[in-house]
Amino acid sequence: MTQIKNICCIGAGYVGGPTMAVIAQKAPGIKVTVVDINEKRIAAWNDADLSKLPVYEPGLDAVVGEARGRNLFFSTQVDEAIAEADMIFISVNTPTKTYGIGKGMAADLKWIELCARQIARVSTTDKIVVEKSTLPVRTAEALKSILENTGNGVKFQILSNPEFLAEGTAVEDLHAPDRVLIGGDPDTEEGKAAIQALVDVYAHWVPQENILTTNVWSSELSKLTANAFLAQRVSSINALSELCEKTGADVNEVAKAIGQDSRIGPKFLKASVGFGGSCFQKDILNLVYIAQSFGLKEVADYWEQVIIMNDHQKRRFAENIVRTLYNTVSGKKIAMLGWAFKKDTNDTRESAAIYVADYLLNERAEVVVYDPKVSKEQILADLDYLGTRSEAENRDLITVVNSAYEATEEAHAVAVMTEWDEFVALDWDQIYNAMLKPAFLFDGRRLLDKEALKAKGFEFYAIGS
Ligand code: UDX
Ligand code: UDX
Ligand code: ADP
Repeated sequence: MTQIKNICCIGAGYVGGPTMAVIAQKAPGIKVTVVDINEKRIAAWNDADLSKLPVYEPGLDAVVGEARGRNLFFSTQVDEAIAEADMIFISVNTPTKTYGIGKGMAADLKWIELCARQIARVSTTDKIVVEKSTLPVRTAEALKSILENTGNGVKFQILSNPEFLAEGTAVEDLHAPDRVLIGGDPDTEEGKAAIQALVDVYAHWVPQENILTTNVWSSELSKLTANAFLAQRVSSINALSELCEKTGADVNEVAKAIGQDSRIGPKFLKASVGFGGSCFQKDILNLVYIAQSFGLKEVADYWEQVIIMNDHQKRRFAENIVRTLYNTVSGKKIAMLGWAFKKDTNDTRESAAIYVADYLLNERAEVVVYDPKVSKEQILADLDYLGTRSEAENRDLITVVNSAYEATEEAHAVAVMTEWDEFVALDWDQIYNAMLKPAFLFDGRRLLDKEALKAKGFEFYAIGS
């Protein structure tokens, strides 16, 4: 029986940070050290002011406050933490490749490989290595081959333990997961012991029946499949939102009607300006790439359509703004409310807002953005990353402000991009009065009350109605 006393997590991001904080909170007997090469990020995790944590998640400050300094530590001393751990979680970023074979589709495993080599170099005692990042199927095999060829006699067991938390509800999801999935090698005694060791970590707070164990490949593929199914639901309802707009049906009514069928279920049927986040697109592209590499054209095409639909949804939202504003937005002030890819997070990766803003900037609009949790630096970095225009031009064309009222003053149009609660509570009369007329309002989230806003005088457009 292996009992875990010391955990190291490499990568202090949106996944590693919250997950380790909850493990430390729930298993006070285990020392958990989260390491990262990014010194600024580690400093923020160690900030005495808990409102300055680098990841914004409701409830996370309390969890970190409880465990930090007791059995939860954040550090840049990667080698030391690896050396003393019995179990190492790899939770580094795995972005889509931007070069070479598989460009734009396959995951870039450079960082994972660097981690594996570092673990191999530093370790002097046996370790269980856990893949936490979303990875293409069969990554564990690559990890294994790097780790097993160190020649220093240290033994490694590789587990896959995909993360299913959703941003914005990470702490809730970690406290009461629908399931925890652990993939390992059930055919050897060492493999079984490693699986059990990780089961025991989660068993501090997760009921046994919610902890599933599988072989490594099933676990890896389940993660991609779960995200592909979820994203497919969003693309499916978004495809119907366009048809609703043409036919006079209302997508919310359709979603409610189909969601009551227990075989379909009510969740994840909210039409939107398009899904974002670090996982959905990347995981589907990964699935498509894997299918293609096995020559499964129909399978690859089937899943790729989910992405094609999502890109279409973002583009048509932007096109509709331009068309509605008499076919030109050149020099017009457009207020974008929200930049995060969903509410209750400061994460902006793949946010629909980035693509809509880019489209409007190409049309020479004067875009003004307000998001309650996203910084100006992040917004500019997101646009620069697209590489559509020079950094100087981006700074020239886009303005980031500190309130929704400032953003909407004298605007030709307002576009709601993220479903932040505070946007519902805004004084929309005040906004209407300060806008140019006609006051156009585009709701990309079905957040606002259409009839009430029309009664105030807005020219109102909402996805799917
Ligand atoms: C997702 C998975 O839910 C999670 O299990 C996995 O671990 C990581 O990827 P996340 O990306 O954090 O989590 O958020 P999620 O709530 O899944 O939303 C993803 C995107 O879909 C967001 O842009 C959201 O606004 C959009 N969405 C979601 C819709 O447009 N409509 C919906 O009905 C649901
Ligand atoms: C369907 C709808 O379920 C029903 O609500 C509607 O009114 C009529 O169409 P039906 O065609 O009678 O009903 O059967 P259903 O149980 O939905 O199965 C349809 C097909 O899907 C069958 O061939 C079934 O074998 C197949 N199926 C269903 C699967 O292959 N896998 C599944 O998980 C479920
Ligand atoms: P995720 O959403 O998967 O958590 P993030 O990008 O938020 O992704 O976090 C990943 C973190 O991993 C980043 O803070 C990055 O600095 C860190 N990281 C990447 N490679 C290494 C490495 N070799 N050693 C330590 N930290 C790393």
